Formats: sequence, structure tokens, C-alpha cells
Amino acid sequence: MENSRAQELIKSLHNTDILSEEDSAYIVYDLDLVQTRYSELKDAFPADTLHGIAVKACPLPYFLKLQADRGLGAEAASIEEVQIALASGVPAERVIFDGPAKTRAEIQFCIDKSIYINIDSFEELERVNSLVGANTHFKAGLRINPQIGNGKIGDTSVAGKRSKFGVNLDDYMDRINKAFEDYSWLVGVHVHIGSQGMSVDDLVNGTSKVFEKTKNLTGLERFDLGGGLPVVNREDDLKVGFKTYTDALAKAMPELFSGKFKLLTEFGRRIYSDTAIAISNIEYVKEGHQIVAHLGADMFLRRAYKPNDWYHQMSVLTCNGEQVTNDSQTYSVAGPLCFGGDFLSREVSLPKVEEGDLLLIHDVGAYTLSMWSRHCSRFTPKVVGISGDNTYLLKKRESLEQLIQFWS
Ligand SMILES: Cc1ncc(COP(=O)(O)O)c(C=O)c1O
Repeated sequence: MENSRAQELIKSLHNTDILSEEDSAYIVYDLDLVQTRYSELKDAFPADTLHGIAVKACPLPYFLKLQADRGLGAEAASIEEVQIALASGVPAERVIFDGPAKTRAEIQFCIDKSIYINIDSFEELERVNSLVGANTHFKAGLRINPQIGNGKIGDTSVAGKRSKFGVNLDDYMDRINKAFEDYSWLVGVHVHIGSQGMSVDDLVNGTSKVFEKTKNLTGLERFDLGGGLPVVNREDDLKVGFKTYTDALAKAMPELFSGKFKLLTEFGRRIYSDTAIAISNIEYVKEGHQIVAHLGADMFLRRAYKPNDWYHQMSVLTCNGEQVTNDSQTYSVAGPLCFGGDFLSREVSLPKVEEGDLLLIHDVGAYTLSMWSRHCSRFTPKVVGISGDNTYLLKKRESLEQLIQFWS
């Protein structure tokens, strides 16, 4: 999110009573930008596409409900995410259940509710087959690893020669063919290539490799493109919108958009990432060069452990939301946790700040709060949203009762 917009949002919060003194850190979503992202997604794909937005990116029931209201769905990586989505009003037919460790009970639940699942392995395929019985409503897809190689970020690349996920295209085409011949409920192919570290070319190459080899499978009705569209973390990252992506897909595979197949998508990061900022009071400026903030590795796990892969731009404002106009200097930004690696940045240039100023951490709308770590048991922060002149409480700051409940 642009600095000027972030400042505007923070200033407008100061005119409300939604924040209290105990909110030493909080998150603000630009709800108008979220709606714009939904529209961009829907406009870029055929109207009957099922968009299962990745719950793990942003699991707040507030957003799941918003997705449901806009005709969007949810991609769940666990049965718990399936349950949050259903409880938030996402209809069962718009839930996609992925994940490699589905139990028999979880699969049975999906069969009974006709929830679409993407099967991760040949072993799971057999398990599902043993449970389907006479059910004629249930449908499933098979996740296929295109084996095109890893991208820039090893931990979120899932298209190497061996991947944790899916069945290998190059190694098992015969078994894939046979599975579609054998099982009438197997109607879909699923490809997810990686999250953030893959370029659009990688995504298009991997998808078209799988599409070309699977488009004539017996009974194929659905093609699930997964997610993975990267966002701008650093200034020199390429900004890619959904339309640019679908244009590239359509150029490589016109048949994918011919109407012959129902398309499914599972984007997360590109929807939510830049729609939110996190704000922390600067509690101390230690010896003039170490900022001590109220968010650290608890919310920014990836950033703390793999700082080169996961970057967040930072900026500062005064406690009233005004620009800090001092000359810049180099700071480290430490979090509040009790271990030496708890840094948001070891070296960042910011205007000279003082205790009580605000630290802004940009682009935190996806995979930040949803990766919260309980180390040191700090309360999860309040989440607010702004749309036009209206301010909404999306999630309360955690209470002591909730925290004790978590550990009980
Ligand atoms: C199977 C699957 N689908 C969708 C996503 C969402 O990816 P992104 O948020 O990068 O769009 C992920 C993320 O890891 C995933 O594993």
C-alpha cells in the first residue's frame, strides 16, 4: 500500500474511538482495495470460474463472509479451514479442500457434504475410492506436480523434481491416465506451482505443461490453476495483475479458456497482501539505533527466519499520524519476543524517530497474522478495516480469557 494511503487510513482512525491505549500494535485493512482486488480477479476470468481464495492467506471470518457475498469461494488446506469457511457462510459447493494429510473422517465429511477435494497422492486416491460408495454427487481433482523446477524461494516452491505435494507428471502419466479411466468421480486436475517465488513465466510454463498432457484425460471437467501470483515486496519486483496473468495463460493455452473446462483458482497473496498495514508504537529507541516494536517474529515468522526471502517495507509517522521529516539514519528493528533472532530488520534507513512514534509495516494482508506464533504468549492484535468514511472492527484484540483458553 502506498505510504500516503497508509497515512490517510491511520489519520482517519484517530478520529474514531476504535483504538484504545492498550492497542500498542494493530492491523488496518483498506476494505475498498479488497473489493477492488475481488473485482480484478473476477473480471480476469470467465464468469463461471470458481475462485477459492486461499484461507491460509487470510482466515478472518469477516473476509470469508465478504468472499461469500461476492460469489467467491475458499481454498482450505485443513479441515479446520473448511469448517471456518462453512461457518462464515461460504457454501459447500464453493469450498475446495486441498492438503496432503486428509484423514478418512475428513474425506468422509467432504463426500457427505459434496465438498470438492484435490487429492494429493495415489495413496489418497485409493482411500477416497474406498469411501465414495454409492455417492454420485461427490467430485474430486488430482494434484499434479509439473516438475518444472523450483523458483526463487525454496520453501514455497512446489514444482521441483520431487515435491511434497501432488503426483509427478513426468514419472506417472500412465498411472494418472488409469486413475481417470477407473474413477468416474475424478473429474479435475489441480496445479499449484509455488507461492511468491515463481514468475508469471514459471506459472504459465508449469500450468501449460500439465494442461497439454492432461486435457484429454477421461472425464476431465475441471482445471484448477492454484494460486501463486507474486506480489511486489521490493521496489524492483514486477507488479503483475490478474488480467496480465490470464492473458499470458490464454496465449499459451487458448483451449483452457474455450469453455470446455470449468476453471478453478486458489489465489491468496495477490488478493490480500497489499490491502493491509500493521502499525506498532515505537516503545523504545534503544541507544539511539535499535527500535523496539510490539510486533516481531510472532507475526512475521518468515521475515525473522528468512529475511532475504521475505521482505516488508517499513516507514514511520508521529503518534498523530504526521510525517516524520527528520533526516534518515540506520536502525535495527527488534520485536518484543524473548529470543535473539526476533528482528523485523537488522538494518533499515528511517527518518530519526523517538519513543511514541509509529512504525508502519507494509503489505501485511496475507500470510502474516495467519502465521502467528504463540512464543511469549502475547495477545494477537486488533484488526480494523476502513471503507470510505466507515471504520469496522474486523477482529478484537485477543483477551486474557482467550489466551488462557488457548493454553488450557
Ligand atoms: C495448494 C495451494 N493453493 C493456493 C495457495 C495460495 O497461494 P498464493 O497465496 O501464493 O496465491 C497455496 C499457497 O501456498 C497452496 O499451497
